[in-house]
Amino acid sequence: MDNIQVASESVETDQIQIETGKQSEQKKAATKKSMVATSIVIFGASGDLTWRKLVPALYNNFQKGRLAECATILGFARRPYTDETFRDRLREGVESFSKETFDAGVWDDFARHIHYFQGNLDQAGDFPKLDACLNEMEKGPANRLYYLATAPEHYPLIVTELGAAGMAYSPACWRRIVIEKPFGRDLGSALALNQVVHSVFHESQVYRIDHYLGKETAQNILFFRFANTIFEPVWNRRYINNVQVTVAEDVDVGHRAGYYDGVGVVRDMFQNHLLQLLTLVAMEPPSSFNAEAVRNEKAKLFESIRPIALTDTIRGQYEGYAQAEGVAEGSKTPTFAAMKLYIDNWRWQGVPFYLRSGKALKHKSSEIIIEFQRPPHLMFHLPEGSEITPNILSMCIQPDEGMHLRFEAKEPDSEQGMQSVDMDFHYRSSFHGTLPEAYQRLLLDALAGDPSLFTRTDSIESAWRLLDPLLEAWEQPDEAPMLVYPVGSWGPPEADELLKRDGRNWRLGCVDEESTIHAGG
Ligand code: BG6
Repeated sequence: MDNIQVASESVETDQIQIETGKQSEQKKAATKKSMVATSIVIFGASGDLTWRKLVPALYNNFQKGRLAECATILGFARRPYTDETFRDRLREGVESFSKETFDAGVWDDFARHIHYFQGNLDQAGDFPKLDACLNEMEKGPANRLYYLATAPEHYPLIVTELGAAGMAYSPACWRRIVIEKPFGRDLGSALALNQVVHSVFHESQVYRIDHYLGKETAQNILFFRFANTIFEPVWNRRYINNVQVTVAEDVDVGHRAGYYDGVGVVRDMFQNHLLQLLTLVAMEPPSSFNAEAVRNEKAKLFESIRPIALTDTIRGQYEGYAQAEGVAEGSKTPTFAAMKLYIDNWRWQGVPFYLRSGKALKHKSSEIIIEFQRPPHLMFHLPEGSEITPNILSMCIQPDEGMHLRFEAKEPDSEQGMQSVDMDFHYRSSFHGTLPEAYQRLLLDALAGDPSLFTRTDSIESAWRLLDPLLEAWEQPDEAPMLVYPVGSWGPPEADELLKRDGRNWRLGCVDEESTIHAGG
C-alpha cells in the first residue's frame, strides 16, 4: 500500500519554537528533502464530522497535490465496515459535500490510501492492535496525526490509551493529536482534560481545533488590519463607537440534539468561535506572524476582558426546540444568546462589544460590524429629527464572504441631501474559484506542525473563566425565565433592547437590505 507522504520536520518541531518567516522557509526547503510517511488516524471515523468535513478536506488537499505522494488515512470506529464499504461511505460524503471538485478518477487514487480499523474505545487491547496495524501499513518510521472526531466524553480515554500503548512518542518521527471542540464544558472540566492530555502529550504536540480560525475570512482579519496602513490608525476607541459580532444560523439543531441539548449556544458557539473572532478584531499587533506571537497577543486580550454583567446578557430558545427529538422534556438549553462586553485596555476603553449567536434565525450570516463614531460636528443641514448615519465596516465571514464599507455621499441634484453608499469587496468576484473549507487549511497546518490557527490552552481556559459565571447563573432555578423566540426571527426582542438602551441597533451589513429592517440597520 502507498503511504501518504507529507513533509516531515522530525521530532524537534514538537518543541515550541519562535522563528522568523525566513527561517520557516529554510526549514520547509530542508524538510522537503526528508519525506517521511505519515498516517492520519481518525477516531470517530463513522461519524458526521469525518464524513462531511474531514475526508472532503483531505480529498481536496490530495487533489491539489498538497498531500504529496500520499499518506495512510486510517479510520477507527466500532461499525463493521471493511476498507471497501468504508470507502464507499466516504465517497458519498465527498460527492455530496465537495460537489464542485469531485472527480471519480481522483477519488479512486485517493481512496487507495483509506483504510478501516474496526475497534472499540473501551477495549484497551484494541489500541496495541491498532498500533500493530499501523506499523504494518507504515513499513518503517512514520509520522502520525491522531484526530479525535468522537463525542467529547471519549477524549480522556483515547488519550490515555494512546499513552498506555506507547503511541504518543516515537524517537524518529512526530506524533500529534488534534482535539475537536468542545474542549471541556466549563473551566473545571477543561483543566481536567488538559491534565490528562498533558500526562501523555507535550503541549507542542496538541492541536485544539476551532474551525472558525481556518475560515479564509477569519484568517483575513489580521491581514486586513496589519497588511494595510489605512485601517489601524482608526482602530480604537477614538474612532470606533461599538463592535458587533453576529453568528446567525438559519438551521435548527436538527439531528444533533443528542449533542446540543445540555450544551447550548454559549458552549457551542461563544466559548470558541465568537470569542476567537473577537480576539482577531481586538488584539494588539503581534511583532511577527508566528504562532506564539499571535497567541500571546490573544492571551493578553483575554486578560483585558471585563467580567460580563448578567444584566448585559440575554438567552432564548426557539419555539418548538423543547419538543424536538432528542431534547429533554422542559429543557432549559439556550439556542440563542446575546451579550455585551468591554475590554479594559488603552485601545478599547468604553467601547462596547456586542455578541450574538443563535439557531433557527432569519438568515445564515456570520459578520463583524465595526461602527465608527459620528462626525464630531455636522456642517450640513439634515431633515428635522434625523441623525447622520455612522460609517460602518462589515466584515462578512460567510456566506457572501467579503467586506463592505458604508459611507455618506451627496445625493446628486440635491442641495444637501445625503445617502449611505457601499464600497464592496466580494471574494467571489475578486478571487477565482470557491473558497476552501476551513478544515483543508487546518489539516495541512497540523500536518506541517504550524499551530498558529489552533487554540492554545490559555485561551481556552480564559474563555471558560469569562463564561462560566454566566452559565452557572443561568442554571439557578430563580434566574430569569428562558425567552422564547419564533423560528425565522432575529431572536427574542429583548436582544434588541440590549442595544436600544444604549441608543444603538444591531446592524447587518452582509445580508440584503430587506433583512436589515428588523435589525434597525
Ligand atoms: C460548530 C457548532 O462548531 O459550528 C455547530 O457545533 C454550528 O452547532 C457550526 O452549526 C457552525 O459552523 P459554520 O462553519 O457552519 O458556521
